[in-house]
Amino acid sequence: MIFEKKIKCINFSLEKLVSNYKNAESLLSVINNNRDFLGKYLEWVDSYTTTEKALMNIKKTRKTDKCSYFIIVDKKIAGKISFVDTDNNMGEISYWLSKEYNGRGIITNALQILIQIGFDKMQLNRIQLTIDIDNTRSCAVAEGCGFKCEGILRKYFLLRGVPRDMKIYSIVK
Ligand SMILES: CC(C)(COP(=O)(O)OP(=O)(O)OC[C@H]1O[C@@H](n2cnc3c(N)ncnc32)[C@H](O)[C@@H]1OP(=O)(O)O)[C@@H](O)C(=O)NCCC(=O)NCCS
Repeated sequence: MIFEKKIKCINFSLEKLVSNYKNAESLLSVINNNRDFLGKYLEWVDSYTTTEKALMNIKKTRKTDKCSYFIIVDKKIAGKISFVDTDNNMGEISYWLSKEYNGRGIITNALQILIQIGFDKMQLNRIQLTIDIDNTRSCAVAEGCGFKCEGILRKYFLLRGVPRDMKIYSIVK
């Protein structure tokens, strides 16, 4: 399945960035500036320390058969939203947004777009999110987009070696 390279919205766009060092350095600098904020729930930021790693991530995201996009605000990288672990029935979405752009409804809008793509284009029947029980902000985003909490997956995920309880959210067609 082929996904568009750019989806324009009112105050942001979803884009597959060109894979070059300039974009990789910008991406790494967003991660560096948000290391503590993102790292609270996302362990991958710990090993995300080189331009090469950022370049690889941009290359992977650029593939047109992946529903994975950087969130661009005022021509700057603000975050990322992607389908991960997708089969022909269900898909899981993951997202992050730089702290300075939080609280503007950007992730809420971006998530609504991916839900629409998931149901209409990818023909999914179920879309899910797994969110740390303490990540109230992300839970509010999920609930605002119509996801229902199906329960708590106890000690489901290791965050730096510490088992965390996760809420499982779903939205169905
Ligand atoms: C989770 C994250 C994407 C939310 O981004 P955001 O810009 O705040 O999202 P939005 O502006 O679209 O919506 C935030 C919602 O949370 C609410 N909110 C804001 N602060 C809150 C808080 N401290 N506790 C609970 N809810 C809160 C807002 O009111 C809004 O709800 P509303 O639309 O009902 O008013 C962002 O904080 C982030 O990237 N965090 C770090 C990485 C992460 O946790 N990723 C998700 C992993 S599951």
